[in-house]
Amino acid sequence: MEGRYATTEELSAFIAKSPTPFHAVRNMAVELEGKGFIRLDEREAWKLEAGMPYFVTRNGSALAAFRIPSSEAEGYSIVSAHTDSPAFKVKTDPEIVSSGLYATLNTEIYGGLLMAPWFDRPLSIAGRVFVRTENGIEERLVDFDRDMVLIPSLAIHMNRKANEGVCYSAQKELLPLFAEGTEKGRFIEALASQASCSVDSLLEYELYLYPRTPHSFWGLGKEFFSAPKIDDLMCAYTAFRAASDTIPSRFISMAVLFDNEETGSGTKQGALSDLMCTIVSRIGTAMGYDEERKAIMKASSFMISADNCHALHPNYPEKCDPTNRPRMNGGVAIKFSASQRYATDAESASYLRDLMDRNGIPYQHFANHSDIPGGSTLGNLSAQKLSIPTVDIGAAQLAMHSPYETAGARDTEALSRLFMAFLSR
Ligand code: CO
Repeated sequence: MEGRYATTEELSAFIAKSPTPFHAVRNMAVELEGKGFIRLDEREAWKLEAGMPYFVTRNGSALAAFRIPSSEAEGYSIVSAHTDSPAFKVKTDPEIVSSGLYATLNTEIYGGLLMAPWFDRPLSIAGRVFVRTENGIEERLVDFDRDMVLIPSLAIHMNRKANEGVCYSAQKELLPLFAEGTEKGRFIEALASQASCSVDSLLEYELYLYPRTPHSFWGLGKEFFSAPKIDDLMCAYTAFRAASDTIPSRFISMAVLFDNEETGSGTKQGALSDLMCTIVSRIGTAMGYDEERKAIMKASSFMISADNCHALHPNYPEKCDPTNRPRMNGGVAIKFSASQRYATDAESASYLRDLMDRNGIPYQHFANHSDIPGGSTLGNLSAQKLSIPTVDIGAAQLAMHSPYETAGARDTEALSRLFMAFLSR
């Protein structure tokens, strides 16, 4: 087992310590600083040098890491992915007393999650809080990091039709049980203690429930792996690692990890924001490129938009396209859509295939069944802001948007090798 799926093991360890996008970005920032990347602040002037690596974060939940080649840069090699996953978000004033016996927490849904698999699973709570201090308002990350709440099922005896299709209300059936007793204010007290502050100094928070189930390699040859947040930390982590470990020769290499893909990307840290465009523009200015050079470099750039897609489900083969139906462990899936929900075109896909052929990286093709629209992703959204040739790719996985997703144990390595090859050009 050891070393066999080393990249997937590393990914699983990263997922385990990254229960929210804030934690994922902080963990990446710590690792980047350890590797000599220089942290930039959007509120300060940027001074950049050829041959040096940099990173910048926005909202603590989106991150861009880039490295400028020692020679004259011809353009940008960009890999994008997203840091967020569907989850339950804790509302303000969260405690609800149930029948004078218990306290549940008031939550709402973030992203298009599958509700049923959240039942009967140990859950914890993590996110960020803002604390009033003597030096102003401070952001602190919190993670209870223990089995903290659980959403219990209703017994079959109380709903004999439970196995015939159930319609769930997020406001009724999905509220997690938090404590016995009815005394109010205990959640905020526990949160303040976790954030090392007083209840009075605790201002606002963004907190999410997250599953505590550890990752697992399984199947006859342990060829599958399951973990929370495979969509899209599998791509985000491998993109980040490739950007941090690769030295580019002729292009500025960059990993851009957006937040809020699961709610449509329309935030200041999402793919529809000016984040990537602003970074590219500021790199150009800091490097002293004139407008003509900036335009030439943009036109010479290429982006890989990385977000997982659906593998053929053994029990629902009819949901897949008849011919473009990727499988787990089949390598990188190139995603096509006539509606252009994926930014891939024949030219960008041909470039990528050639790159993968030359590097011995396995790949396959994905298209949605023509009667099933499928989800959206980043590539065609970010291209509205920074219009460069783009290919949409991802690993093929099962149970997307479940709190415990499944993918091929060998595919992490395929993604990683693709990003390394691409970002080293
Ligand atoms: Co995704």
